[in-house]
Amino acid sequence: MEEKKKRIFSGIQPSGELTLGSYMGAIKNWVDLQDDYDCLYCIVDMHAITVRQDPATLRRRSVNQLAQYIACGLDPQKNIMFIQSHVPQHAELGWVLGCYTQFGELSRMTHADNITSGLFTYPVLMAADILLYQTDLVPVGEDQKQHVELCRDIAQRFNGVYGDTFTLPEPFIPKMGARVMSLGDPTSKMSKSDPDGCVYMMDKPEDIMRKFKRAVTDCDACVKFDKENKPGISNLLSIYCAATGKTVAEAEFEFAGQGYGIFKPAVGESVVELLRPIREESERIMADKAYLEGIYKEGASRAQYLANKTLSRVYRKIGFAAR
Ligand code: TYM
Repeated sequence: MEEKKKRIFSGIQPSGELTLGSYMGAIKNWVDLQDDYDCLYCIVDMHAITVRQDPATLRRRSVNQLAQYIACGLDPQKNIMFIQSHVPQHAELGWVLGCYTQFGELSRMTHADNITSGLFTYPVLMAADILLYQTDLVPVGEDQKQHVELCRDIAQRFNGVYGDTFTLPEPFIPKMGARVMSLGDPTSKMSKSDPDGCVYMMDKPEDIMRKFKRAVTDCDACVKFDKENKPGISNLLSIYCAATGKTVAEAEFEFAGQGYGIFKPAVGESVVELLRPIREESERIMADKAYLEGIYKEGASRAQYLANKTLSRVYRKIGFAAR
């Protein structure tokens, strides 16, 4: 008998253009895991509105992001791909879980001042995303680890009160590319809101090369991995290794005795070659709106079926009267 596959859930906010960070930290691993797991990959538009979005841009990005998922190699036949707001069970379970989450737990998540309550309670919605599908594994970049851990705590607490209800999820953090740093400031994370330090997946080759040639390094001209003392070079080495599949030792050997004038453009080239087919394929798929609509509608209906199973159990356990 065929063994039941374990479940994966992950998502990305359509709050900006996809970046090299979102590719290396998340999507690349989604592609690698899609054959061995039963996967749901989401476009989390409800998370995106925790900060103000332009409506037309949000709508366009949400659909284009699906095109990019497919262009990266996610097979719509194998995976359930959908838009979060099309599955209202996320909001419904989010409300319930908020009643099993302490204010203090949310206060400990890293946040700036002056935020909406939606942004404050965002980790609860993320927990609902994951727990709705009885998820075993959540492939994400390092910055999301704390949220998956909070999700486990909430699930454990709920299970403790009502008996086994939720599968406890584990984060899956890649060895290479879990935290791609800004090319302009290698001590802070590459983020979509920093155009100079950030490589976008849809950037043209000449822009990618320019950004890498300008990447901040150091002055000892030695290509060696040392996160403490050489954050810029270490970041470029990680990017190069994630893009080419080489190990750090192989890359250090390859560039031994060569200056940054050789190394930086070589890293740029590796990223250009990585992203070129993805960009071309994305552009092709983005033009086919009917195809994309078919996929996200089908995805939402399959996701709703699974989500309902969990939500009705939860509603029964907590004492909501049957509909
Ligand atoms: P988001 O949209 O900020 O980022 C999407 C994914 O990309 C990873 N990532 C990075 N990885 C490495 N280096 C970087 N510089 C980098 N920047 C982004 C993130 O770790 C993430 O995996 N809360 C999530 C979205 C979410 C979610 C979920 C994820 C909502 N519900 C349920 C998993 C499961 C977020 O804001 O990711």
